[in-house]
Amino acid sequence: MIPVILSGGSGSRLWPLSRQAYPKQFLPLLNEDSMFQQTLARLPQDDVEAPVVVANDEHRFLVKEQLDAIGQKPQSILLEPFGRNTAPAVALAAIQIARKDPASIMLVLPADHAISQTKPFHEAIAKGLKVAKDGALVLFGTTPDRPETGYGYISAAGREDDPGGPRPVRKFIEKPDEATARRLLDEGGYFWNSGMFMFRADAYLRELKRHSRDIYDTALLASRSLSEDLGFSRIPPEIFEHCPDDSIDYAVMEKTTRATLVPLDAGWSDVGAWSSIWDISEKDEQQNAVYGDACLADSSGCLIHAPEKLVAMVGVDDLVVVDTKDALMIAPRDRVQEVKGVVQKLKAEG
Ligand code: GDD
Ligand code: MG
Repeated sequence: MIPVILSGGSGSRLWPLSRQAYPKQFLPLLNEDSMFQQTLARLPQDDVEAPVVVANDEHRFLVKEQLDAIGQKPQSILLEPFGRNTAPAVALAAIQIARKDPASIMLVLPADHAISQTKPFHEAIAKGLKVAKDGALVLFGTTPDRPETGYGYISAAGREDDPGGPRPVRKFIEKPDEATARRLLDEGGYFWNSGMFMFRADAYLRELKRHSRDIYDTALLASRSLSEDLGFSRIPPEIFEHCPDDSIDYAVMEKTTRATLVPLDAGWSDVGAWSSIWDISEKDEQQNAVYGDACLADSSGCLIHAPEKLVAMVGVDDLVVVDTKDALMIAPRDRVQEVKGVVQKLKAEG
């Protein structure tokens, strides 16, 4: 099994800590290791080969440094000149892996998730491995608890005999609108897609070719002219720029009939926005989570991330305060998704 770590995202909803030049997956956000390093550290020990990392060219030294720091020797670091989303990123890795052995199993992992329990995570991987060997595209599904619109929703066949076992996927709906998400939650029986996948390299490429031919063709062409130096494999921009921008979820998972779901109950969380950092943080009795030094009076449900300044708050609830050297962000906890818009606005204003 070859872990393929996707770490090309920019994490703009975690601004101002997460920046284009230093995105969230490389930050020591939750403890001293970054989420990228934790993703590698929590891999099972058995049957796991050296990882493939797919990242943005801009972050090559961060990737290298952070791999070195945890003693990980990757089998390759693929560098994209710009992001074209996850379907092409996974294709580039699959093509490289399939050249050595088309039947190799890829375990595709986003670099920006938190998983609090390693044992059930490893158990789910072991279950997935069996069906992936037979050619299934395996998704790991968690139980939804709110009408989240940023995730994929999966309906799968029931398994009364083995509730934790693999089940054929009936339907995959990526990022539904809020009304649909509510309906799916009411209907019941849906899982959230965790964004982790497992399949044979040739199985992914076959399905990609069938459902998103342009991505398949462009990735194949780009892979024929990689430039190799200092342990990096660079994707040629003049070819990759013609690659459609699409996620594995829309390009393959919504369309394939080969998907199989393995349930995952391991304290999984997509650390997408400040509200999810608050969710998974240790909190005081008033439900405040503090990174740094803070003096709070009559305040509750707040998240404070201010390592270099004392923060005092009086009589405020459910507020997020993030302080960095050059920017301060304050938002109600239930509106932190809108931070992405602030980043876009700042970019547009130059
Ligand atoms: N190399 C590379 N290139 N990596 C990328 C690119 C890219 O162009 N775009 C995104 N990534 C990485 C991100 O860094 C992240 O680790 C992972 O791929 C997933 O991308 P996101 O952009 O975070 O996806 P999402 O959160 O909107 O949706 C996915 O994850 C959800 C669960 O967290 C989907 O799979 C959903 O269905 C799923 O529910
Ligand atoms: Mg994500």
